[in-house]
Amino acid sequence: MTKIGIIIGSTRPGRNGEAVAHWVHQVAAQRTDAHFELVDLLDYKLPHLDEAMPPSLGQYSRPHTRAWADTIASFDGFVMVTPEYNHSTSGALKNAIDFLYAEWNNKAVGFVSYGSVGGTRAVEHLRLIAGELQMADVRAQVALSLFTDFKDFSVFTPGEFQRESLTAMLDQVVAWSRALAPMRTR
Ligand SMILES: Cc1cc2nc3c(=O)[nH]c(=O)nc-3n(C[C@H](O)[C@H](O)[C@H](O)COP(=O)(O)O)c2cc1C
Repeated sequence: MTKIGIIIGSTRPGRNGEAVAHWVHQVAAQRTDAHFELVDLLDYKLPHLDEAMPPSLGQYSRPHTRAWADTIASFDGFVMVTPEYNHSTSGALKNAIDFLYAEWNNKAVGFVSYGSVGGTRAVEHLRLIAGELQMADVRAQVALSLFTDFKDFSVFTPGEFQRESLTAMLDQVVAWSRALAPMRTR
């Protein structure tokens, strides 16, 4: 069964990302074409990147890196749920991405973002990063507005049409995760 990780890309107390990621998981869990799991960066307690060797060499020396690598290696594809901080993704998500290399390669990724203009600028940056990691970023994405998909900027109340956007994105992530499977077994 294709396995997709839904990564919660923010770590701050009171983060909106948790409610958004749970909504993604709730919708995704109703599908039968893949298995979906939440991945919370808070559970991995990653410091700022503290590996001496470049991640592309795969020589991970720290227990927290190995635990993170084992989790990411176990998935065929991902949904990254990202906030927009200063027109980019969060430092926490970028740092967690930077820790690894091969574990991301030849896997699909889709994005769910939120912010004043839907977090779309954060996703544009993540697409550049995905290219360097040899990830296949799907076109469909979910852009949630802090003005219309949240009450008082903090209570998540997604518009009904957002579910359709999410389904379209998940369709592409599952399809590309499967299509890339032969690349990953090489
Ligand atoms: C450091 C910081 C920078 C932010 N910069 C932006 C921004 O550039 N554009 C935007 O739309 N929202 C910005 N926001 C608002 C966030 O999108 C909003 O607070 C969102 O809920 C953050 O995600 P989180 O609650 O999961 O941490 C910023 C928030 C923080 C904390």
